[in-house]
Amino acid sequence: MLSAAENELLTRVGPGTPMGGMMRRYWLPVCTSAQLPRPDGPPLRLPLLGESYVAFRDTSGKVGLLEEFCMHRRASLWLGRVEDNGIRCLYHGWKFGADGTVQETPNHCDDRLKARLKAPAFPTREAGGLVWAYVGPKEHEPPFQRYEFFEGPEDNRCVFRINTPANYLQLYEGGTDSSHVGILHCNLANPEWKNKASFVPEAADYTSVALAVGDNAPTLDLENTPYGYHYAAKRQGPPLADGTPTDSVRVTAVVLPTARIIPLAQYQFFVFEVPQDDHHTSTYIIAHGPKAFDRDKMRAVLGLNDERLWSEKDCEYRATPDNRYGQNIGRMSETWSGLAGLVPEDASIGVSMGPIVERHKEVLVAADSAVVRLRNRLLDSVRLYQDGKDPLGVRIEDYSKVRSLADTDVRKGERWQDLLPNNMGTGVRVAAPAMA
Ligand code: FES
Ligand SMILES: [Fe+2]
Repeated sequence: MLSAAENELLTRVGPGTPMGGMMRRYWLPVCTSAQLPRPDGPPLRLPLLGESYVAFRDTSGKVGLLEEFCMHRRASLWLGRVEDNGIRCLYHGWKFGADGTVQETPNHCDDRLKARLKAPAFPTREAGGLVWAYVGPKEHEPPFQRYEFFEGPEDNRCVFRINTPANYLQLYEGGTDSSHVGILHCNLANPEWKNKASFVPEAADYTSVALAVGDNAPTLDLENTPYGYHYAAKRQGPPLADGTPTDSVRVTAVVLPTARIIPLAQYQFFVFEVPQDDHHTSTYIIAHGPKAFDRDKMRAVLGLNDERLWSEKDCEYRATPDNRYGQNIGRMSETWSGLAGLVPEDASIGVSMGPIVERHKEVLVAADSAVVRLRNRLLDSVRLYQDGKDPLGVRIEDYSKVRSLADTDVRKGERWQDLLPNNMGTGVRVAAPAMA
């Protein structure tokens, strides 16, 4: 069980906190490229790790990221004008370039001031349909990390952002928790749930959960990696032609400090849970594969079609007790959850726990071991940071070969890790803690 002090350590991400400091040591996604669709378009306000920033795409197309509040007298640059390769504060017209250069100070004619000052600006990159930024100390800027979804044509990628009013950890934990999939998402995992019949998913389904039918209590086999861990959920597989018994294994990779890679039959989901502050999280979901996506179909599969709950306009997920976290109780005879689909199910459960889960009140079971491992690896990483060392995986540049694995039959006793040689498994299998 996690102590209240460990829970604080894991969940507080503001400036000056250990977890906030650890997370600031990585490049993080800060918005989608689609949210800054054109040069000199409107700026975007971006809360991140308990601080606030403004992003804008300048005349040349480069994305700038500045602290939200103007260095002169602290007006919000979000209200500013994006023009002539910079952003101009509305209040007294000071104008800043994407790199923080002070270009103009119309209420102060002495040019020496401009030369002496620089607005706090942070390095950005664009890749994989996302804008990434590094907001940590300059001397610790790590290499920019490469993922598989950066590759291939843009149409082979679907990017969604969902801003959810819950602490990042409860959403991240949900994403590493195999045992909820066949239950919370059973409407997708097994649409025949009402008839107690089994269901054979189409290989082309845009959903990962359709793979997880039949056994809601898989054995979890976890292995640490330099960037976090990966684990196999093992279920009984069909015997081979010669009668050899098999395990059906499904592997998820967890890349600290915010990411996981989830398998679909033909695609992979990359999901990042980026804290806006202690109580709000931006979830970035990137589906990526060898073929072009039908974005409308993917949005429907993810359950993001109800504009009352979420829309592309502001990406806010509007689940509150006042709207029963988006649940339509009248639909529960038709759909298991009464929620609008996969993402609303995960997000609403996360919000329903309250802004920060009181983890010392939990009763954990063996099925929660991947969740426990997530906490332990985050604690490992934050303690490295506190000791003045590099947090886990921060120096790894190439994640493009780290993969998840959709349900695959493996002879009993054979190593599933051998199917994923580039996942950098360390062979370290920490014993599962005692649980109820
Ligand atoms: S507050 Fe921004 S120019 Fe004065
Ligand atoms: Fe889920």
